[in-house]
Amino acid sequence: MADSSLLYRRRIWVNRWNLAMSLLTMAFGMSFLIWILITLFARGFEALSPALFTQMTPPPGSDGGLANAIFGSFFMVAVATLISTPIGILAGIYLAEFGKNGTVASLTRFINDILLSAPSIVIGLFIYTVVVARVHHFSGWAGSMALALLAIPVVKFVLHPVLAQTTEKSWSDVGSVDEFQSLTAPVKKLVQIEQLDGWRRTVQQKPVYVIKDAAGQIAVLSSVCPHLGCTLPWVDDKNEFICPCHKGTFDASGKLVSGPPPRNMDTLPMKVEDGTVKIQYQFFRQLSPHKEVVA
Ligand code: FES
Repeated sequence: MADSSLLYRRRIWVNRWNLAMSLLTMAFGMSFLIWILITLFARGFEALSPALFTQMTPPPGSDGGLANAIFGSFFMVAVATLISTPIGILAGIYLAEFGKNGTVASLTRFINDILLSAPSIVIGLFIYTVVVARVHHFSGWAGSMALALLAIPVVKFVLHPVLAQTTEKSWSDVGSVDEFQSLTAPVKKLVQIEQLDGWRRTVQQKPVYVIKDAAGQIAVLSSVCPHLGCTLPWVDDKNEFICPCHKGTFDASGKLVSGPPPRNMDTLPMKVEDGTVKIQYQFFRQLSPHKEVVA
């Protein structure tokens, strides 16, 4: 008992000591930061005058301003934006709409990823070697080129996922075809679907109904009500799908019986492969009398 009490007190003192040392270290670091900030504001406000914006940077010890630096910054940002924005937009559109997974598109993505992760100092050195060292002087044009090289992959990176369509959906397993041979009523199944929308990858489970259509063939229905998208339950007692939201009803084949839904339940693309029923999950436009795939 005495031992554990001693250990407890020792830990408390070690904790206090460490806390005190941490606070002292922080205060030491903060004091320099505050000193820099005070000097910055005191000297900065002192130097604020029209000359700061209208005169060139002087040699050390002389009076002058920062006109060239201010103008240079605006100039480089404007030129870099003019160069990088159209190239980034065109690259984003090409990758999203045309290139898809082709060789040129893969190469473009590869180069873009390298540019995106390259440190700015490497880009600066590249432009120095290619431009500055050849013309033997620094210039705003060279700065703009370096800035544009940094901005192009960023524009493309931001734009491409916005434009990119949902990836083509894969086929999802519903179950063994033998399981559905003797269906007498719709059977609910959960299918797993994976989608890639821009930079977002999602895996979800969606309920679907396996039915026998009028010709006695297996078909798969979406469980989403075509009125306002509620999930349709099959009600055994009534032998109908009855929408809990606005009481739309459908028969066992998904045909509209009554209520506000504007069309029958939607069938999903289906195939049988190696004895397994597979579907491509789709989303359809609601409130429309015609079946229209939206994703
Ligand atoms: S959402 Fe189904 S009837 Fe309205």
